[in-house]
Order: sequence, then C-alpha cells, then structure tokens
Amino acid sequence: MNVHPRGRSLNCNAAGHTDRTEMSDSTAGQLRTKISDGSAHVGIIGMGYVGLPLALAFVERGKIKVTGFDIDAKKTDALTRGESYIMYIGPERVRRARDLGLFDATSDLTRLKEPDALLIAVPTPLTPQRTPEMRYVVDTARQVRDALRRGQLVVLESTTYPGTTDELVCSILEESGLKCGEDFLLAFSPEREDPGNRQFSTTTIPKIVGGVTAGACDVASALYASAVEKVVRVSSARVAEATKLTENIFRAVNIALVNELKIIYDRMGIDVWDVLDAAATKPFGFMKFTPGPGLGGHCIPLDPFYLTWKAREYGLTTRFIELAGEVNIAMPQYVINKLQAALNQRGKPLRGSRVLVLGIAYKKDIDDPRESPSFELIELLLEREAEVSYHDPHILEMPRMRAHPHLRPMASQPLTEKFLGSVDAVLIATDHTTVDYAFVAKHARLILDTRGVYRGSHPNVVKA
Ligand SMILES: NC(=O)c1ccc[n+]([C@@H]2O[C@H](COP(=O)([O-])OP(=O)(O)OC[C@H]3O[C@@H](n4cnc5c(N)ncnc54)[C@H](O)[C@@H]3O)[C@@H](O)[C@H]2O)c1
Repeated sequence: MNVHPRGRSLNCNAAGHTDRTEMSDSTAGQLRTKISDGSAHVGIIGMGYVGLPLALAFVERGKIKVTGFDIDAKKTDALTRGESYIMYIGPERVRRARDLGLFDATSDLTRLKEPDALLIAVPTPLTPQRTPEMRYVVDTARQVRDALRRGQLVVLESTTYPGTTDELVCSILEESGLKCGEDFLLAFSPEREDPGNRQFSTTTIPKIVGGVTAGACDVASALYASAVEKVVRVSSARVAEATKLTENIFRAVNIALVNELKIIYDRMGIDVWDVLDAAATKPFGFMKFTPGPGLGGHCIPLDPFYLTWKAREYGLTTRFIELAGEVNIAMPQYVINKLQAALNQRGKPLRGSRVLVLGIAYKKDIDDPRESPSFELIELLLEREAEVSYHDPHILEMPRMRAHPHLRPMASQPLTEKFLGSVDAVLIATDHTTVDYAFVAKHARLILDTRGVYRGSHPNVVKA
C-alpha cells in the first residue's frame, strides 16, 4: 500500500497502478484496433463547456464517431438541430460534425452501451459547506454501471480529488459484476479547457492520462492521441487527478498573491499594474498573474477545496489554499469600499448612487457567468442601497444564480453616451475586449477599474 494508512485506497504497484488482473490482450486489442483504424465510437457524457469542444475535437481531428449524452434535453435537442449554446463554438462546427454522420446527441442514457469508450465531463461543484459535491459524478457512474459491457473504456474527465476514479467510480462500476482492468478499462484524464483562449484549443493543449491499470492508460492514451496533438501519460489515475488540482491551486494562490500586493501597493501610492508589467519583462523565474475583483469560473474558486477536503482524511491542512481563499474572497468587499471612498470624495454617498457594473461574465470575452465576482459586487452594492445596472455584451439577460437567489433579473443596458452620463460610477468587473473603453472614459463621471484597463492616470479613473 503506498498511501497513508488513514487514506482508503486500493493496492497500488510500484508504477502507481492498482494490482488488478489486466483485460485479456484480445479484448483490449480489439479496442486498440478500432482506435487505430478510426472505427471506435466515443460517448461523451455531459455536453457542457468541456464535453462539447472535446466531442468536436474527436470528430474534427480524429474523424472519430461521437455520441454526446446529456440529461439536459434542451442541450441535446439544440445539438441535434445543429445549434450551439456556447459562444465561442460556432453552430457551423456542430452542423458539419452532424452532417458528416460523425456526431449525434441524445438524452437517452440506455444508449450508453453503444460506444466503445465513455468519457465523463459532468460538473464537480462544492456543497454550501465547501465540500465536494459528488452527486453528478455518482449519478453518472451509476448510469454507466447500468449500461456497462465487457471491453468498454471509461474515462473520468471532471476535476476532482485524488482517489475518485480508483475508489468511488471504480466501486460503482464494479457493482455491475464486471471487474475493472479485467472486463472494462478505467482511467482519469483531466480537462484543461480554457474557454475563450485563442492561443490554445482542446486539440493543442497536451492531455494528461492516468490509468487505474497500465492497460487502461495505454488504450486511453491511444484514443486521445487521435483528438489531441500531445498525450502525456502519467503513472496512475491519482497522479492525473492531483496534476489537475495542482494546476488550479497554483493559479488560485498566485492570484491571491497579486491581489494582496495590489492592496499593499495601492496604500503606498504604487500602481500594481505598472509593477506587474515591469516584472513580466524578466525572461525567467517570474510568471505574470493579474489582480481582479475576486475569483470566478467553475474551476479556480472551487477545485482547490477538493484537495482541502481529501487532505483532512490524512490529518493534514492545506494552509496555502485556505489563505488564498481568504484573500480572494475578500476582494469584492475591498472593491466596494474603494468605490464608496471614491464617491465620498466627490461628495456622494454610495446609498442612492447609480452604479453600472461593466461585465458579469467571470472573465473577458466569454458568456459564462459561473461564480463570477460581479454577482457578489452587485449584492454588496444593493446591500448598501445603491441603484445597480449592468452591461455585458455577451450576457444580455442576467441569469438566475444558485448562490445569489435574491438578485432580481435585469437586462444588459446599452453603453450609450446618455446612459453613461446618467450613472454616478462605472465599475469595470470584466474587461471584455469589444467594449470601447475610451468612449466609457469620455462619458462616465467616475470609473472603478478592477482589471487594469486604463494604464497611467486618468482624472475620472480609480484603480481598485
Ligand atoms: N469549464 C471549464 O473551463 C473547465 C475547465 C477544465 C475542467 N473543467 C471541469 O470539467 C467538468 C465539467 O465542467 P463543465 O464546465 O463542462 O460543466 P457544464 O455544467 O458546462 O457541463 C456539464 C454537463 O453535464 C450534464 N450532466 C450533469 N449530470 C449529468 C448526468 N448524470 N448525465 C449526463 N449529463 C449530465 C449537465 O446537464 C451539463 O450539460 C467539471 O468537473 C469542471 O470542473 C471545466
């Protein structure tokens, strides 16, 4: 056993793979042959921000047949009609894949027995107590269990704590009576999707693959190699799970660091953006992270706490993660205090002031509002009795947010000279590139810039 005695684990061999009887060469060989001759059929469960681009990568690069599964029939119906519900995925890509006969989508989960490989990309959020919410993974594993047949490969892609694949998912799948490694193959391969990133896409981002058994790693690596340029094999599913968490923890901690530096330098009268631009000229030993109004998105604010939860099982605390969480969670309050002080200087109380929040997506140039700090900013403004409106070129109607059930629905306001002139302050929360910031600066009375949109000093811009 190569884990701490408090951790529940399967027996792992020196290479990190569990000691299991491997699937016979002929069964694994059939799957390998199908992968190499392009006749393998892939099922992707969860047609969201991760599942849909992955499906298109298999079709477009690998010419591999994909069926997309989702319990949300609105999504599968849209895909069947050849539509896309993700801003940066053009509907023509969905239509082309469908018309080639290489892509279909369904909410009929009895069809999970059809594909040779099932890749799982369902949500892994946190509970209100900030512990892993595993119900989507568990439900999906049970659906797969009920359809599982000999010779199938199952790969979990959802970000999660080390041990999910070889403890939780494996034990559910084995309730089928089939044995992991012997009858079916199981692996973990984390998704590293960065929505809206024009430099890297699903096919050009190297794909980490770790198997519960060596055979699973081999077959899963061969499959992914048809969809992505580079596959990186690691020694176990646990290493693959921990790799993904490490990447996101690295980001969360470094963002917290620059957020803290922003507060310190601001008090000293130093512009943190000037400092970061200058530091970024060092060709080694420095990586630029940028401050903001708080953390957003499905990953960075949530994933680190998967490790925190698992570490408790080993009697350990994750101090860097907790501290980063503390610093990042305090940012919206810091921004609102800065806004209040800036209005105060202009003889205006925040109460009754009209504030336009610019950007409610969690980062620029996307239409995804999940965990966006803009919602916390809006709540804080409303608590202090400001009149709030918002503009987001990519989110025309504010969706209902699970974590902010009391926010009344609003529509995005047009960024006209008249509207900008009618508000007391513009709070830039997301720096979408299509916004004309020179126009905003010309017509707004006061701008709170949390994203470093304006460099140098401007009479009506306060950096926060
Ligand atoms: N969005 C990102 O940028 C990103 C990047 C890297 C990793 N991830 C990780 O990938 C996973 C998926 O994230 P996402 O952003 O694609 O989520 P998403 O919410 O966009 O999509 C998940 C989909 O799964 C479907 N689903 C839920 N339960 C299901 C079930 N039992 N059967 C079938 N379908 C089901 C949902 O209806 C939804 O359409 C998460 O673990 C996330 O942390 C996300």
